[in-house]
Order: sequence, then C-alpha cells, then structure tokens
Amino acid sequence: MGEKTEKKYIIKTWGCQMNVHDSEKIAGVLSSLGYSATESEKQADLIIFNTCCVREHAELKVYGNLGRLKKLKEQKDDLIIAVCGCMTQQEEVARHIAKRYPFVDIIFGTDKIHKLAGFIANAKLTGGTIIDIEEDEEGSIIEGIPAGREEGVKAWVAVMHGCNNYCSYCIVPYVRGRERSRKKEHILEEIERLGQSGYKEVTLLGQNVNSYGKGSEDGVDFAGLLREVNKVEGIERVRFMTSHPKDLSDELIYAIRDCDKVCEHIHLPFQAGSNDILHKMNRKYTKEQYLGLTEKIRTEVPDISLTTDIIVGFPGESEEDFRHTLEVVERVRFDSAFTFLYSKRRGTPAERMEDHVPDPVKHERLKRLLELTERITAENNSALKDKTVEVLVEGVSKTHSGRLTGRTRTNKIVHFEGNDSLTGKLVNVRITDPQSWSLFGEVTNG
Ligand code: 5AD
Ligand code: SF4
Repeated sequence: MGEKTEKKYIIKTWGCQMNVHDSEKIAGVLSSLGYSATESEKQADLIIFNTCCVREHAELKVYGNLGRLKKLKEQKDDLIIAVCGCMTQQEEVARHIAKRYPFVDIIFGTDKIHKLAGFIANAKLTGGTIIDIEEDEEGSIIEGIPAGREEGVKAWVAVMHGCNNYCSYCIVPYVRGRERSRKKEHILEEIERLGQSGYKEVTLLGQNVNSYGKGSEDGVDFAGLLREVNKVEGIERVRFMTSHPKDLSDELIYAIRDCDKVCEHIHLPFQAGSNDILHKMNRKYTKEQYLGLTEKIRTEVPDISLTTDIIVGFPGESEEDFRHTLEVVERVRFDSAFTFLYSKRRGTPAERMEDHVPDPVKHERLKRLLELTERITAENNSALKDKTVEVLVEGVSKTHSGRLTGRTRTNKIVHFEGNDSLTGKLVNVRITDPQSWSLFGEVTNG
C-alpha cells in the first residue's frame, strides 16, 4: 500500500437493469481514473446518482436523496456530486436540478459516460453546474467503455439501446432515444471475453430485444444473435430481456427451444388485458393475440417460465377492463409479475387522456391483482416440490453462512446447504420446501 490516498466514489442506482449496467460502465471509467469504490457517502470524494424516471415514485426518491446531500457538501468542499441517467435526459428536469440543487457539479446524459473523465477534471473549474445531455449524432453507440462489473458468475450485456415503440404511458423513448442495435461482432467479442474471465451466465439487455438488428447491414435478428451467443465457450446460460409481444417471432421461439444454453424463461410484459386499453396504450396487440402467443410458446417449450409487467389504473380503465387483466393472469399463470400503478409522465400521450382513474380505485385494483399473482406464483412453486432442478450457484447467502444461493433455468431463486467451492458450478438440487419467493432444497450431485 502506498502513501497516496486513493479517491473514493459511490454510485447510487435507481431503475432497471440497463441502469445497473450503465453504473457498471461508470464504475469502469472511474477505476481507470484511479478511483475505488466505497460504501460510505461520508468517505466519498465523488457521489453519482444514476436516476430513473419511468414512474413518479422513482423521481421523488431521487429528489429526497439529493436534498440530503446538501449538508455533506457543506462539510466537504471538494466533494463532487454528479447526477445522470434517465431523469436528467429531460431538459427541464436537468435545469430544475441545477437550479434547485446548485451544489450538484455535473449533470450528464445516458450516452455521455465516455466523457466522465473530462467532466470530473472540469467540475471545480467552472464554478457552476456542468450540464451535458444533448443527444449526439443520431444512432451512435459508443463502444469500448470498460464495464466495472462485480466479480461473479453473471453479467449483463447491452445488445441495443433506446425504444421506438411509444407506448402511450411510457417516457423511455423520449429519454433513451431511438432504437439502435450494437453490432453483432462487438456483442460476441464482449461475451467471449466474459466467458474467458470465468463468467457463466449472460443476460442480453434491451428495452425491446426482439427488434434487435432491424435495419442492420449484416441482417442478423435477435433469434440469429441468440444462436451465435449460444456457441460462446465458457458461457453456460444465456438470458435476455425485455421482450415485446408484438415482435416475438417464431424464429425466436425456435431458438429458445433449440439452444441448450438459452434458458427457458421469457419476460413478456402484457400491461393490460382489455383490448380497448391495449389500443389506447399503443401496444399493437390484442388480448387474444397475447394469449395465442403464450400458447404457442408453451407448445414449443413446455417447461418455459413466463413473467410479466402489468399496469393498473391506466386512464379510462373500467372495472370491466380490469377484469380482462385478471383473466389474462388466470389463463397464463405467470411465475411472477411486476405490478405497477399507472403513473402520469410528462409529455406522454396518456398524460393528456381523459378519465384518469382515482387513486383509491387504482390501489384497490392493485391489491386484488397482487392477491391473484401471488397465489399463482406460490402454486407454481409448490408444484416443484420433490422435483430436481439444475441450479447455477451464485455464491454464499448474505444472511446465512453455509447456505448457497443460485437460480434455476427458469430464474427462480434456490437456497441450499453447501460449500463456497460450488460457486459458479451447475448442480442438481431437489426442492424440499418451495416458498412463495424462493425455493429451498438439497444438492443431489456436485
Ligand atoms: N406508469 C406505470 N408503469 C409504467 N411502466 C412504464 N411506464 C409506466 C407508467 N407511466 C411500467 C411498464 C413497463 C415497466 C418497465 O414499467 O409495465 O413494462
Ligand atoms: Fe416503454 Fe413500451 Fe418501449 Fe417498453 S416497449 S420501453 S413500455 S415504450
């Protein structure tokens, strides 16, 4: 250890896996600048908030946390505070943060991570807040930013950025920009390197992975990409998210069926069951088409696990509309469902729609929906009792030493007794005690 004290950083991340992965890239840049991570805000020389704006709740949390930083900044003048991510992609939000929280030194957009070194170098020179959120050249993706992934078994790999779907409630297309796919060679190179450095599982990320490669020169679509990733040495499991029902092709279903490493799990948000609401949401499929799609998937891949996202209380949603949502849940029997109260987002078409659903009605529907989804999750899990499943061991449980945690191919969490030497290995586990949120079992090999 040298005398020099290393600069320390802390990144706080809200939102989806894409944001988590962006934070890994930020960590990669910072470590190349000689920074190391700390868990303590007090010790940090640089605090970065990577924000989410998909629902109001996420934004409010960021504002609350920003307010708290003012004191810290007063105590430590050379502390640098940066805010990035989806919230700051909206110009009026970026300006609001700079005005209301003038102690923030840097505000940068989701595509500006490669410029972070420059922002930090200049942070103390300008005296004001540096704001850089302008969209670069249309369609550009910056390659080569080293992701500072935590050592481990699983890694996220972005395959595309942005979204062109404009679901009427969603702010993502406005903040993450147009859909653009990474080149197949760049993705495969990254995954090959991950395989060589001991990672066993990759999750391919995109807002809508099914439209991967649209308009690309090499003509590779998502099904083709999966087939290539399936060949990468060292990688044992391949996952992907999120899929849009309107673009899920037969070729993709066959690729999942045929590729041994591609796990039997699709996260397939349906959002709402009523055709009228689906139309107003601009989802471009009907309830019947969604149900038909899930049947087709189950015919080709019988053991597949389906999970979903559902919004309750979209403008104009009647009790009758909501019952269609419950019916879809009953029919598809999702292994898990993320359920959201509709949240009004600035500048989206749904914001301007009529008949916003009163909060108490939204809450009452959410409660009924949760009762149903949780009951079905528990029933699906109970059906696994005494079954033997393949588990990729992720490591020792944080709360119980001597207990290992891993996941089934269908993405269910499994806990069992075992030694750390099994981390990163595939083992067979017999499920002895299935619970609602996770499964308990014992190793039968390994
Ligand atoms: N209100 C509530 N939920 C939303 N989502 C996206 N936008 C909104 C909104 N305005 C949900 C969708 C999406 C998930 C990531 O977040 O269900 O699939
Ligand atoms: Fe939002 Fe729809 Fe795009 Fe998903 S597909 S990010 S919900 S606009």
